[in-house]
Amino acid sequence: MTWDPLKPYNDLPDLRPTQDIETRAVLKLAANAREIIAKVDGFSYSVPNPLILIDTLSLQEAKDSCEIENIVTSTDELFKELAQVDNTNPYTKEVLKYRQAVYEGCEYLERNNVLSTSLFCQLASTIKGVEMSVRKGLDTKIQDTFRKITLYTPPAGENIVTNKLTNLERFIHKKDDLDPLVKLALIHYQFEAIHPFTDGNGRVGRILNILYLIQSGLLHKPIIYLSKYIIENKNEYYDGLRSVTQNHSYEPWVIFMLKSIESGANDTYKLLSDLKSAIDFIDSSVKQKLPKLYSRELIELLFKHAYCKIQFLVDNNIAKRQTASEYLNALADIKILNKIKIGRNIYFVNNILLELLS
Ligand SMILES: Nc1ncnc2c1ncn2[C@@H]1O[C@H](COP(=O)(O)OP(=O)(O)O)[C@@H](O)[C@H]1O
Ligand SMILES: [Mg+2]
Repeated sequence: MTWDPLKPYNDLPDLRPTQDIETRAVLKLAANAREIIAKVDGFSYSVPNPLILIDTLSLQEAKDSCEIENIVTSTDELFKELAQVDNTNPYTKEVLKYRQAVYEGCEYLERNNVLSTSLFCQLASTIKGVEMSVRKGLDTKIQDTFRKITLYTPPAGENIVTNKLTNLERFIHKKDDLDPLVKLALIHYQFEAIHPFTDGNGRVGRILNILYLIQSGLLHKPIIYLSKYIIENKNEYYDGLRSVTQNHSYEPWVIFMLKSIESGANDTYKLLSDLKSAIDFIDSSVKQKLPKLYSRELIELLFKHAYCKIQFLVDNNIAKRQTASEYLNALADIKILNKIKIGRNIYFVNNILLELLS
């Protein structure tokens, strides 16, 4: 049957595809990517507080993944939002919801060890900030808003959509001989092609990528993300998805996804090393120059909040208000932090962290 972008694609084939997907080129890239993931995973154990790493990387991912959907904010604005600095960008809160969804997904995985439709709905609900359930009607299309044309119409009818999701769940958990990273690429296409929600499908699908890396045992913490590569190669991402539908052309799609995994893993490796050096640098400077106020908790707090305020030290039981103020001012005096005033409030900015992430 020929595919028509204007008609619901109810003939979307269930997984797995009948054709051979693991060509030599695919297997070579997959092996490469797995090796880098293993290197990153191993390295992540040497970071004293992996939470810092997870917080930082998931914040970057939230920014990038939302940017693919034209929900644009900056790292600086996100850190400001965390410090409740008044801001005028309405998207910042929305991006933070994405990070919240990543965390919820990880918790769900720890408790249930499955990627299920109920998890997909939970992620969509958190991202959108309203209760989301699987689409019931013919209420969605993928449009090229610029050229005003419909690119794709996903399957329609609640039963059809639910059945396709059930097939997807089975495929995810089936023990088979496919390389897990090749499976990830197939899962991402399938999820986007089913397009179970009226909105949020791109973002939920990209969260599933990281959750699948964890579920398959390749990675133990949510620290490798694909969205940065996807933004940088956005047309290839859309073309790849469309070509699978239109021509059953899996190889370029799988290769694209493998490259995005490799690139994401390399970025994480670099950030990990840079972050570790930055933390070590600040840690030893403070230990040496201000030994009386030094504590590991304080140093870590400065990496959780690029915009730090006195209250954060109080909330984290590092010091009482007066002492906390003395601590942050002393850190500003030795130029570890930059003291700034926004409105009526004072913030102590960790520029080393902001630069590292810019
Ligand atoms: N031709 C296509 N076929 C299937 N999925 C597509 C196609 N083009 C784009 N997509 C996916 O649809 C997503 C956008 O869907 P949407 O529900 O608006 O997600 P979000 O709200 O997160 O933006 C894209 O990020 C991409 O993953
Ligand atoms: Mg959208």
